[in-house]
Amino acid sequence: MKSAQPVGALRALMAATAAFLAFGAPALADTAANAEYVGEKTCLGCHGQENQHFKDTLHAKVFRLNPKNQHEARVCESCHGPGAAHAKKAEDKSLIIGFTKYWGTPIEVQNSQCLSCHQGGNRLHWPGSTHADNKVGCADCHNPMEKVSVNSLLVKQTISETCYQCHQQQRAEFRKRSHMPLPEGKMSCADCHNPHGSSTKPLLKADSVNEVCYACHAERRGPFIWEHAPVRESCLNCHQPHGSNHDKLLQVARPMLCQQCHNPPGFHPNTFYRNDQTAASALLGGVPSQRVIGRSCQNCHSQIHGSNHPAGARFQR
Ligand code: HEC
Ligand code: HEC
Ligand code: HEC
Ligand code: HEC
Ligand code: HEC
Ligand code: HEC
Ligand code: HEC
Ligand code: HEC
Ligand code: HEC
Ligand code: HEC
Repeated sequence: MKSAQPVGALRALMAATAAFLAFGAPALADTAANAEYVGEKTCLGCHGQENQHFKDTLHAKVFRLNPKNQHEARVCESCHGPGAAHAKKAEDKSLIIGFTKYWGTPIEVQNSQCLSCHQGGNRLHWPGSTHADNKVGCADCHNPMEKVSVNSLLVKQTISETCYQCHQQQRAEFRKRSHMPLPEGKMSCADCHNPHGSSTKPLLKADSVNEVCYACHAERRGPFIWEHAPVRESCLNCHQPHGSNHDKLLQVARPMLCQQCHNPPGFHPNTFYRNDQTAASALLGGVPSQRVIGRSCQNCHSQIHGSNHPAGARFQR
């Protein structure tokens, strides 16, 4: 235990407190007194079955073949903690750190085991993140006992399936008629979100929504001579990030999309005055307005994300 460092000592104290609350004082005393490592040979004596899958994982290979320090060389016990007492009394759940719901070890204790090696980097913002605050555990998304996914030891084969365990609403959004090509396998939730935490809500990977989108849609960044203010502010003024039942991931169908903000008394009115101007009026012999058919307002204002034409102030060119 790194009790020399105040932070390490504090964490140990928090873990001890959590253990105390979960198991009561006698169990805690027991754990402390018997906190001895026995080595993986002893574990394999009873858990050979688990090792059948574990042996093919990155942890098994690194810890067994090329450990960087003593912590890694402990193999099973580097995650599950010292197991001497458990090996003698397997049914006592306070004697070894488990990562399953059945075992009941507090989430904070579980996560701190993983963070003892994986702090910082992509997990810099884990403390205080939405997932950490909602008591999501590393083991809700990761299963280090078996290589289920190609990368990152996920509990499901893909990132999206891993997230859908809890985010059913987003699964529905990606099934709408217009959606980001995520179900097609061209991207994953992790292209836009960092599930381990971030400084931008909601767990976004970049400093703003637009920066997230520019990563792949760089042409929308500009610079433009004539900017369209709502585009610069946020792509979400007009688009859904996951999926929509309107064309091109739009928030609202056109022309209402534009009419939410535009109703100028100037060059032309944006609202309709006569019932023979609507798209449906064509059936009755009317002449629908260009403002509703086809690409509606964009029949004329085509450069809606911004224009670099000297005379493009109204985004027509
Ligand atoms: C004498 C046999 C024996 C030895 C040795 C042993 N275990 Fe266990 N272990 C068991 C049994 C039996 C259970 C299941 C107990 C139960 O379900 O009540 C168990 C449960 C566990 C669990 C909890 C599984 C869960 O459901 O989450 C973990 C983790 C674990 N062992 C790890 C280890 C590690 C690490 C070692 C080596 C330090 C080890 N065991 C050594 C018999 C053993
Ligand atoms: C990198 C961390 C890590 C290492 C190393 C590790 N485990 Fe686990 N172990 C876990 C996690 C996380 C789970 C929970 C998996 C889940 O959700 O099913 C787990 C689950 C288990 C279980 C419960 C049954 C199961 O398979 O889900 C047993 C028993 C167990 N581990 C024993 C071992 C033994 C024995 C070793 C060494 C051969 C070992 N573990 C190495 C993290 C680890
Ligand atoms: C003793 C240190 C240690 C502990 C404890 C530990 N890991 Fe690791 N982990 C490593 C090392 C070393 C690697 C190899 C890659 C690297 O160097 O980052 C790794 C790799 C990983 C990877 C990437 C796997 C891949 O295929 O790319 C994931 C995911 C991971 N660990 C999750 C966990 C989780 C979850 C826990 C807790 C249950 C955990 N680790 C506990 C040291 C550790
Ligand atoms: C909500 C799901 C989720 C949780 C909770 C989670 N992870 Fe991850 N983790 C992922 C996904 C998804 C990836 C793959 C990211 C990618 O490929 O871009 C990943 C990748 C990793 C990696 C390998 C790549 C890297 O970032 O270094 C490590 C190590 C890791 N996670 C450790 C952890 C630890 C430790 C915890 C607990 C503190 C944790 N994870 C909690 C989903 C999660
Ligand atoms: C074990 C359940 C669980 C899993 C698995 C899970 N999440 Fe979450 N997630 C939650 C909970 C709980 C919340 C907070 C309550 C809510 O917003 O629904 C949350 C919130 C979020 C938020 C909103 C954050 C905010 O600040 O409002 C995002 C984004 C998110 N999760 C992304 C992901 C991604 C990406 C994955 C897969 C890598 C994932 N989640 C996997 C449980 C989970
Ligand atoms: C193209 C980028 C992108 C992808 C891919 C993506 N998200 Fe999001 N997600 C966002 C943005 C941007 C927001 C913010 C929405 C807002 O503020 O209205 C968001 C919001 C969320 C939220 C907060 C609640 C909500 O809907 O506003 C959750 C939860 C979430 N995403 C989960 C996921 C999951 C799970 C996946 C993968 C299945 C995923 N996201 C894929 C960009 C993305
Ligand atoms: C990881 C790369 C990536 C990121 C990040 C990304 N996109 Fe996309 N986006 C794509 C791909 C790939 C397509 C499909 C292009 C195609 O089919 O030609 C697409 C398509 C679209 C479409 C057209 C959908 C349709 O039905 O034709 C819109 C609108 C869009 N993205 C907006 C956004 C917004 C807004 C963001 C930020 C929240 C964003 N994108 C972030 C890769 C990305
Ligand atoms: C003022 C509303 C509005 C805003 C804000 C907006 N878009 Fe669009 N976007 C549209 C409309 C309308 C379409 C459909 C264009 C068409 O049919 O030609 C579209 C289409 C797209 C497409 C599909 C490709 C294409 O040209 O057909 C992508 C990709 C896209 N937008 C990305 C973005 C990104 C990235 C942002 C933020 C930087 C953004 N949009 C902001 C209105 C907007
Ligand atoms: C979220 C609000 C919003 C939405 C939605 C929106 N705009 Fe705009 N638009 C603005 C703002 C703000 C300006 C800048 C007005 C200014 O500078 O006086 C602007 C400027 C314009 C201009 C230049 C006219 C001028 O006065 O400078 C045109 C043309 C235009 N928008 C057309 C559209 C069209 C077409 C759509 C639908 C595809 C649309 N807008 C959607 C807010 C919006
Ligand atoms: C038939 C072509 C056409 C269609 C369709 C059209 N516009 Fe226009 N719009 C114009 C022209 C031409 C101008 C004036 C351009 C100039 O002054 O350079 C203009 C100007 C504007 C202006 C600036 C007004 C001002 O007072 O400066 C806005 C805002 C605008 N249109 C919004 C819309 C919206 C919203 C729609 C859809 C409901 C729409 N337009 C449909 C041709 C069109």
